Amino acid sequence: MPVNLRIPGPTPCPEDVLQAGAKPMMNHRGPEFRDIMFRTHTRLQTVFQTKNDIIMLTTSGTGGLEAAVANIVSPGDRVLCVSIGAFGDRFTQICEAYGAKVTKMQVPWGHAANPDEIAKALDADPSIKAVTVTHNETSTGVTNDIASIAKVVKGHDKLILVDAVSSLSCIPVLVDAWQCDVVVTASQKGFMVPPGLAFVSVSAAAWEANKAAKSPRFYFDFKRHKDSLARGETPWTPGMSLFFSLDLALDKLLKEGMENVYARHASIAKHTRKQIKSIGCTLFCADPKFASNTVTAINAPAGIDTNKLVEILRKEENTVVGEGQAALSGKIFRLGHMGYVTQKDLDDAIQAVKRALAKMGAQVPA
Ligand SMILES: Cc1ncc(COP(=O)(O)O)c(C=O)c1O
Repeated sequence: MPVNLRIPGPTPCPEDVLQAGAKPMMNHRGPEFRDIMFRTHTRLQTVFQTKNDIIMLTTSGTGGLEAAVANIVSPGDRVLCVSIGAFGDRFTQICEAYGAKVTKMQVPWGHAANPDEIAKALDADPSIKAVTVTHNETSTGVTNDIASIAKVVKGHDKLILVDAVSSLSCIPVLVDAWQCDVVVTASQKGFMVPPGLAFVSVSAAAWEANKAAKSPRFYFDFKRHKDSLARGETPWTPGMSLFFSLDLALDKLLKEGMENVYARHASIAKHTRKQIKSIGCTLFCADPKFASNTVTAINAPAGIDTNKLVEILRKEENTVVGEGQAALSGKIFRLGHMGYVTQKDLDDAIQAVKRALAKMGAQVPA
């Protein structure tokens, strides 16, 4: 029986998407690959709900975040970094590494960012140039209200850089309607493609900022990528096998229809939240209104070491789930439900958790 891979990415890929990646190589500057580049770019624009350029990078999600910072932020720029968990912290660290003067808004883990607090921080320091924020915080299973946050940020005429690595293509991200300047996602979550590609949308305002941005950059330089894309190319050799897979995965997503894809994720997430309560666990997310539709972070019953639970699930139940990160290690576990996923995958995982908890001596409701 295949492993029930329920970490929040990399996620399982459809067999034909994996097989597409096994196609023979071709000229990465020839007509066939050019078609793939143009086709995937146009389809990505549909998924991002944008007319903006989308830079396609051979790198992981973190590379996409670094590219966003390197192309928009200059040393000494003031940046408001909103963090609600481990990935918000990472975006903050990247800004710091590039010499930005960071004001960090640290929201307690398990909570969503409050747009009013962001407005206050922007009022307090008009010199802030950009705001970084995570859409879906994978470490805590909390989804920020990016529509409202972007309204505040754009209302203050600042740039908004969004980490949508574990949301885009699963949870609506309306890049143009919400006026998001830079939106980063990656191949190995909702796109049902192996790890190795990052996609970054760049608004007109972000291109203006890019012209003036002074951080050193080469491999990730947006302008070089945009110029190459006009010819259906990337400036450097791309992860071609991943593009073959992406081409088919986008076809599948758009055939299912994005509204149906979002509805499938919402319904599986709702079902998951209900089921985990029925086995004596609780949601880590403080307010169910912000509970993620791609990953559920779960408090185990009192006295249960979740790292041990994760180990039992792997060794005895053929089920691989996410551990708690940083301070949450041993305290929570996470079930991923994004991409190529059905309700049965989650039902099976939850039954496995129930059996494992019983083995560990937890009081599990009958
Ligand atoms: C919200 C979020 N941001 C960034 C990343 C980093 O992506 P990668 O591991 O592909 O570098 C992840 C990966 O789990 C993520 O979930």
